[in-house]
Amino acid sequence: MAKQYQFPENFWWGAATSGPQSEGRFHKAHRNLFDYWYDQAPEAFFAGVGPNVASNFYNDFRQDIALMKQAGLNSVRTSIQWSRLIKDLETGEPDADGVRFYNEVIDEFLRQGIRPIINLHHFDLPYALYEKYGGWTNKKVAVLFADFAETCFALFGDRVKEWTTFNEPMVVAEGEYLYRFHYPLQVDGKKAVQCIYNLNLASAMAIERFRQSACEKQGGRIGIVINLTPAYPRSDAAENLAAAAFAETFKNKAFLDPAVKGVFPPKLVEILRKDGVLWESTPEELALLQRNTVDFLGVNYYQPFRAQAQTAFDDSEGWLPEKYFAPYEMPGRRMNPYRGWEIYPQAIYDIAINIRDNYGNIPWYVSENGMGVEGEEKFRQADGTIADDYRIDFIKEHLAWLHRGIAEGSNCFGYHLWTPIDCWSWSNAYKNRYGLIALDLANQQKTLKKSAYWFKDLAAHNGFTE
Ligand code: BG6
Repeated sequence: MAKQYQFPENFWWGAATSGPQSEGRFHKAHRNLFDYWYDQAPEAFFAGVGPNVASNFYNDFRQDIALMKQAGLNSVRTSIQWSRLIKDLETGEPDADGVRFYNEVIDEFLRQGIRPIINLHHFDLPYALYEKYGGWTNKKVAVLFADFAETCFALFGDRVKEWTTFNEPMVVAEGEYLYRFHYPLQVDGKKAVQCIYNLNLASAMAIERFRQSACEKQGGRIGIVINLTPAYPRSDAAENLAAAAFAETFKNKAFLDPAVKGVFPPKLVEILRKDGVLWESTPEELALLQRNTVDFLGVNYYQPFRAQAQTAFDDSEGWLPEKYFAPYEMPGRRMNPYRGWEIYPQAIYDIAINIRDNYGNIPWYVSENGMGVEGEEKFRQADGTIADDYRIDFIKEHLAWLHRGIAEGSNCFGYHLWTPIDCWSWSNAYKNRYGLIALDLANQQKTLKKSAYWFKDLAAHNGFTE
């Protein structure tokens, strides 16, 4: 018998993108870390394609937003690039073209009846702040970020009702200082730990500025977007359980706990202190963190993390979190072969229940979920539409588990797919496509995929039948 999945009233059916991945570098006041890295080493990017044009949102935003409307999206997240909005990174003086651009984008979303969710940092630190201060390892950058956030609240807070401070701050620490996939491509566990602390601090400082601004009186709310990779142990053996527990604490709770509860997990602090790599903090900063927690959470979910006990830790590069766990490649796991990520929809239910039971059932939404596929052109039909049935199935499976979490009381208010229009994916560039709307990179033509029509129906019915 057909099963009906009906979602709560006013559910957000939308999609997420970011400034650096969609706009292109046109007229930008500064370079961000990826702009700089591409200028230095274009060969580090798939097919040598960088962020210079991306999906041309800077020039095409009106048509792009119209296409998003056609795909039925009632809400869209994008980000303001610090490196575009701010002309003088020290004084915080805004750039006139940056202000014009983001004003027009926000107004266009509203004109088309789409709720804009505005994020303030999507892996895109201005390079000059890395060069001068060492980036996120320096607390001065956290203060400058709060200044930038305050400028955004003052300029756009009359129209933007939902703000998020960071997208996937853990990925910044991992990419820059652990696993070498973001510039400066270093391996330095101690720097990674300080970076985790400083990003949490920067988020709380920005939230404090938000509370002091007019935004709340104008009906605004502020949150953070965290990537959750629930950790599952290889088995119930004590050493595997301990490995998964540390992975969960390091990868997920290091941002989740301060954001929602205002404190770092005591276990994490204890282990980092014992190992001599704990971050530098002051009582004043910890009090500021405690006072400035989020109103809501965005959760990006792509893959779980399967953990097993570490048996061969190599400390030649110094302290690393892998001292306490090793990844486990579970036989028979279902993979997205293009991205190399496991597909495990049930984790979205586990996340929903975790937030319900351990985080005060705070309001939250799925801020990213999606499937990147290489070579989608081969699915193009005679009528020109890409028949991405695999994406529709992927979304349905995740929604079915999310629905169950909501039915059991989890306070989830929306689902955003990554991404509305195929966009630039960091060093993978345009290899894997995630969008509801296809991009022809050669001529910047954009066309709705089959999933876009399906999504429109999903949003119109506030659910689907299987
Ligand atoms: C998330 C990011 O990690 O996943 C996005 O917030 C990113 O910026 C998306 O594009 C998909 O990952 P990737 O590496 O395939 O682009």
